[in-house]
Amino acid sequence: MKLAGKVAIVTGTSPNIGGGIAQGLADEGAVVACVDLVPENALQCADWIKSRGGDALGIPCDVTDETQVAAMVARVRETYRGVDILVNNAGILGGLSVLDMPVERWTRQLGVNLTGTFLCTKHVGRLMVEQGRRGSIIVIASTAAHQGQPGNIAYCTSKSGLLNFARAAAMDLVKHGIRVNSLTPTATDVGESHDRAVEWGRPRPERRGRLLDFAKMVPTGELPSPRHYARAAVFLASDDAEMITGFDLRVDAGAIAKYWPWIPQA
Ligand SMILES: NC(=O)c1ccc[n+]([C@@H]2O[C@H](COP(=O)([O-])OP(=O)(O)OC[C@H]3O[C@@H](n4cnc5c(N)ncnc54)[C@H](O)[C@@H]3O)[C@@H](O)[C@H]2O)c1
Repeated sequence: MKLAGKVAIVTGTSPNIGGGIAQGLADEGAVVACVDLVPENALQCADWIKSRGGDALGIPCDVTDETQVAAMVARVRETYRGVDILVNNAGILGGLSVLDMPVERWTRQLGVNLTGTFLCTKHVGRLMVEQGRRGSIIVIASTAAHQGQPGNIAYCTSKSGLLNFARAAAMDLVKHGIRVNSLTPTATDVGESHDRAVEWGRPRPERRGRLLDFAKMVPTGELPSPRHYARAAVFLASDDAEMITGFDLRVDAGAIAKYWPWIPQA
């Protein structure tokens, strides 16, 4: 139990990556506040953790609204007396090209991906400082933060912004003993997420085809699942990573390291 006695907040707890990370932290002994704009994602994720013997609280919250974020952090403080771990995972995926992107959609995507991460980090960071907790804050990026993906202008922009947000916040918080790191996932195998949706009492989502065969293009030949990100998040959150701050941990099956023209499984 690497996180026994720790209190974690995970944002964006759908059955996919956020739900997987919340479950992984809980399996290592953390109590987890599951935070999502969609109330069912917050509440069902918490119920699922409790049904597995853990302790969790579901909190509906829009991470772009500072009043809601402050209230969410206050509720976690009242319930669990503080916070040790924050995983900024809530995000809006997908998008459009620079030519087609309506400004309202651009603003919302940057708002959730960047401003939401900023607001949660600000309010959780303040609480950690006030309580003298040597916390760990994790920012979920994407391989799209490292590369120019076509048709995804706001996502690529916001995710690359998060890489340097994590470094800059790490510098702001280092004197308080709080570490800030990013974690880079990539195109994710959907099997585990679909199983988790069913375990939460939902119908099995339909498998949708992808435009690109990602699994053929990653060096490992298979895509990561949320549990692989969860293990990396547990590491970054734990004392094992006590000397690691301002770092980006890529859990990307080797995607970013790859020589670009090489198609390993061709
Ligand atoms: N799925 C992938 O292949 C992949 C790859 C790389 C990075 N990521 C990143 O991982 C994270 C999770 O992705 P996912 O695939 O699980 O997506 P998802 O859509 O399943 O989950 C995102 C969650 O964020 C929530 N959310 C959206 N706006 C919010 C707001 N304003 N306030 C609170 N919650 C809000 C959604 O309701 C949803 O539950 C995202 O940051 C995404 O960019 C995903």
